[in-house]
Amino acid sequence: MTEKQNTAILILAAGKGTRMKSALPKVLHPLAGLPMITHVLSATAALKPEQTVLVAAPGMEDVQAVARAASPSVRFAVQQKQLGTGNAVAEGCKALEKFSGDVLVVYGDTPLLVPETLSGLLQTKREHKAAIALLGMEPEDPTGYGRLIMQKPPFVERIVECKDASTQQKQVRWVWGGVMAFDVAFLREGLSALKPSSATGEYYLTALVEMAAAKGQKTVMLPIEAEEAMGVNSRAQLAEAESAFQQRLRQRAMDNGATLVSPETVFLAADTVLGEDTVVHPYVVFGPGVHVGKNVEIRSFCHIEQAKIADGARIGPYARLRPGTQVGEEAHIGNFVEIKQSHIERGAKVNHLSYVGDAAVGEGANVGAGVITCNYDGFAKHRTDIGAGAFIGSNASLVAPVAIGDGAIVGAGSVVTEDVPAGALAVERGAQQVKPGGATRIKEKKRKKS
Ligand code: UD1
Ligand code: MG
Repeated sequence: MTEKQNTAILILAAGKGTRMKSALPKVLHPLAGLPMITHVLSATAALKPEQTVLVAAPGMEDVQAVARAASPSVRFAVQQKQLGTGNAVAEGCKALEKFSGDVLVVYGDTPLLVPETLSGLLQTKREHKAAIALLGMEPEDPTGYGRLIMQKPPFVERIVECKDASTQQKQVRWVWGGVMAFDVAFLREGLSALKPSSATGEYYLTALVEMAAAKGQKTVMLPIEAEEAMGVNSRAQLAEAESAFQQRLRQRAMDNGATLVSPETVFLAADTVLGEDTVVHPYVVFGPGVHVGKNVEIRSFCHIEQAKIADGARIGPYARLRPGTQVGEEAHIGNFVEIKQSHIERGAKVNHLSYVGDAAVGEGANVGAGVITCNYDGFAKHRTDIGAGAFIGSNASLVAPVAIGDGAIVGAGSVVTEDVPAGALAVERGAQQVKPGGATRIKEKKRKKS
């Protein structure tokens, strides 16, 4: 065991993200339902660092807000001009006042990293008494990554940026994965001596490796699977990262005891929780904030976000559960049903073609086919309360605010605008007229005319 040392984290997120061709900062593009930077921050937070500083560009208040939500203790440095990764780290270092120990630099566009790898890198640095430790990988396509020049692996003499590499250097398969651990004293000294690249005019953080070698200090490489340190620079790489992340999440869900009938068709968010013996049928999408209990069946083609589903419930096929939905134990939500900001209590059923918004549906209530809660009057949203054991006939419209008491019945097709007391029957529709022989008479009349 190496002794405990102070660790500070510097996360770089000030880059223009030009290759994304997007108005949204690169690190805010979502992956598994959460912004890329949130994944990076949760991986680094797991190390319990003494300090975390995120380097952003001027005007990136949105990045700061997302980062603060993910990790309230994070501090910020602003890189005025995007002069390269070396310059960004220099700006970040200014914010690390009075820090002594190891600085872990993590690029904000490497969202698949796991905490064990990061702590492993710090460990490797300490074991080798190296000035720098870095993550190395051998991706199938190394285009865009800095090549690791190593005479005696795992030690690195130099990193050559892809843009500056000769044809021969481009043949090198080992590349840098965007994470480096430094001794802070070495880092400060190295950054103050950094010169811009003659090829691009940018200050490269990677140039510090050559500086260490010139001083007779070691840079050690920790090899990892290429997927984990993949950098997201383009939409295609974002899609690739999403696919890798999904595979990881599906595996985790199955390891935790959920059945995914066709795992490759189920899309999960990083925070999706599926209980034991829950079965998810093909083609289901989970947005962020979904918690599913045990023995739940989610049939095909459902879209679920910010919802809590209790044990034994049955959802879908073709159900949409929007934010604020709570489904109680053994409740059933059927096909073509949309629920928003509503609590469907234990054993209640909303089985066909309904919209239920801003409502409570009491225990064991039955909401018939095509029932709509008219929650919006064009100005504000209003609540609908349906009591326990109530029965709402098909195609009824419940015009909110309105309450239907326990055990009440609402006749099919009614437009309910006033509260219905417990145990009452409410019917609101024109009286039915039946004219014997009327159909035959109309048909004869038409036939004579033609
Ligand atoms: C960088 C590395 C490359 C490595 C790869 C790993 C350099 C010079 N190159 O290339 O060796 O293999 O990452 O993914 O470091 N940023 C700033 N300010 C800037 C420029 C960039 O904060 O002035 C931030 C970006 O927001 C991004 C990170 O630094 O989060 C990396 O920048 P990026 O442009 O993506 O570098 P790569 O070309 O991917
Ligand atoms: Mg990158």
